[in-house]
Amino acid sequence: MNHPQLKNLTLEEKASLLSGGSFWTSAAIERVGIEAATLTDGPHGVRKQDGQADHLGINDSLPSTAFPTAAATGSTWDPELLERLGEALGRESRVLGVDVLLGPGVNIKRSPLCGRNFEYFSEDPILTGKLGAAWVRGIQSQGVGASVKHFAVNNQETDRQRISAEADERTLRELYLRGYEIIVEESRPATFMCSYNRINGVFASENRWLLTTVLRDEWGFDGYVMSDWGAVTDRVPTLEAGLDLEMPTSSGRGTAAIVDAVQRGQLDESVVDVAAARVVDVHERLRADRVEITEVDWDAHHELARELAAASAVLLKNEGDILPLPADDGGPIAVLGEFARSPRYQGAGSSHINPTRLDDALNAIRDRTSRTVLFAPAFAVEEEGPIAGDDEALLAEARDTAAQADVTILFLGLPSIDESEGYDRTHLRLPARQLRVLEAVLKVAPKVVVVLSNGGVVDVSSFDSRVDGILETWLSGQAGGGAVSDILFGDREPGGRLAETIPLRLEDTPTLINWPGANGKVYYGERIYVGYRWYDKTARDVAYPFGHGLGYTSFAYSDLTVDADHTGARVQVTVTNTGSRRGADVVQVYVADPEASVDRPVRELAGFQKVTLESGASQRVVIDLPARAWAFWDDGWRAESGRFGVAVGTSSRDIRLSTEVEIAIPDDIRALDEDSTLNEWMEHPEGRLLLETELANLHPEARNLTGGETLRLAGSIPLRTLVGMAGASDPGTLVNSLLARL
Ligand code: BGC
Repeated sequence: MNHPQLKNLTLEEKASLLSGGSFWTSAAIERVGIEAATLTDGPHGVRKQDGQADHLGINDSLPSTAFPTAAATGSTWDPELLERLGEALGRESRVLGVDVLLGPGVNIKRSPLCGRNFEYFSEDPILTGKLGAAWVRGIQSQGVGASVKHFAVNNQETDRQRISAEADERTLRELYLRGYEIIVEESRPATFMCSYNRINGVFASENRWLLTTVLRDEWGFDGYVMSDWGAVTDRVPTLEAGLDLEMPTSSGRGTAAIVDAVQRGQLDESVVDVAAARVVDVHERLRADRVEITEVDWDAHHELARELAAASAVLLKNEGDILPLPADDGGPIAVLGEFARSPRYQGAGSSHINPTRLDDALNAIRDRTSRTVLFAPAFAVEEEGPIAGDDEALLAEARDTAAQADVTILFLGLPSIDESEGYDRTHLRLPARQLRVLEAVLKVAPKVVVVLSNGGVVDVSSFDSRVDGILETWLSGQAGGGAVSDILFGDREPGGRLAETIPLRLEDTPTLINWPGANGKVYYGERIYVGYRWYDKTARDVAYPFGHGLGYTSFAYSDLTVDADHTGARVQVTVTNTGSRRGADVVQVYVADPEASVDRPVRELAGFQKVTLESGASQRVVIDLPARAWAFWDDGWRAESGRFGVAVGTSSRDIRLSTEVEIAIPDDIRALDEDSTLNEWMEHPEGRLLLETELANLHPEARNLTGGETLRLAGSIPLRTLVGMAGASDPGTLVNSLLARL
């Protein structure tokens, strides 16, 4: 082995580098100058513990900025902003002594019930991949490594340590792996974290196809792979599969198992060398990339958290332009709901942050407006169980408060026990207590705006048509309260667009009959049809579609042009701000392949861009699509010649302009074999010629097979069977001789 630091190490020393040195560090070997690296959560803040360690968010950590969670930042559709978030996380990591921050979490939101959806960006792999890559570029620009997690197909918490996600390869490639692939292509992540679960029966940590064939050999990943905390059950097969670093420390067990396997001749020492070199190299590379930083401007980071929270908030509905509210004109404003003063701003589990400060919306609103602000807590947050006398009193107070105000801002959301790492949700409803308050308020309040705080989507259909506005703020971090006030009074626009569909009912969701699995398996029976791909394919109504979100101005789209060939496309469209104030919109490009030989989604997101324009201004927006925009997985990426739809919209269901392009894919010829059908022969340019000229010579009765009516009836029958039925004495040899001549 050539690595300078590793050359003189004993086998045992090299093996020791492949397990954690402690709960949050890699191992050090002082005599050759190999330092330990600190690896810690992640992803929306730095969870550096200096006391008792745990990976469940139980014990405290040092103060750091609790930025908005991924459910929020996913809704920004803004890679540039995510890059700035990454940079800020990098600075905090550097000052807190963290070398690798465990994120981003880029699992696809397969079901709204996943308890950890707040840590993931989207139901769409392109949006996920682009945002994830930006986050990684940002943090790594500071010399701090990312750990892209949880690789892969970890889409539920139920039985997460053992369950086998049973999914076909097309589903994996097009949906569940695509985001990771984009991140590797666009940001050279330092590390990956493998997930706990099995994939088609094999633990992710032992999955050589996943960790080596796909990740390294196909995508070119050149960092190291670590395990999720405790995801290694058998160290030697995980190492052979491509899992370089076992985390946390296994107190010597992992090292002993590796040494033993080498000594018994069951494991080649070169496997140990390669993995050790990867770990040491990545840590060295990060050290070399470090920028000098000794202090964090915590106020600036708090302000960034506020900007991000506003850019993440999705205004679902704004009847009669109820928002923004005049700050200095009008009657009393009723602020109702415990969440207005005790915000729910982050999720439970390993990502839990000890924030540097915490804004609440109530104080932020009071600070901002000269109007009278009335407040009532309206409900107790964490309580479950029968409605009691206290609830009645809180409800009566809330109703009376709403009755005195011109407008009511009602803060509703999920209690933290409803969604967390470690378990899944069982329904999409807001707590009954909160819905009772809403009903009572609706009876007396002239205008009602609901502000939601939740990580996974909630059912809004029971009240949607009866309120004036709904602002979805997700779990919006420590400055979320200030951001709500910014949005309510128009100091900032609500910048978010849905990164996941809000369904009408749980029963409409794609995983209904395949969730959360049983007997150790969960079948991904809906295949690639997750999120809008499902709702569009099955023509289901939704409460709010993927991509939806209102700002405070309006935009017109015109002059769509698409220059396309098999290498991709350049999509151009003119966007004009037709409203009276500056604002941003997210231009979304969807592609359809209506002539595909396989089932394909009605439309798929292929590219997007956020544009900010002054009132009256126009911009020619240019979005380039890669060749992959046309392709599907069929034992390899394959695209078929023909007509494609290219559409530009502001959600998956609000398509503003669309056009069609004709794409000729070179070598788009399906190879023929012994099983090929008559249709397949006729679609193959040379096969067709051969059949038409040679078939009659080969067997007289077969002459009519290629005629119109016969082709329609018999097109799906293998040629071998057809010529056999037509009387050929040796059909197999006949077809083989044709194949040989092609
Ligand atoms: C989580 C990871 C986390 C790790 C360390 C695990 O339980 O799944 O996301 O990075 O703990 O805290």
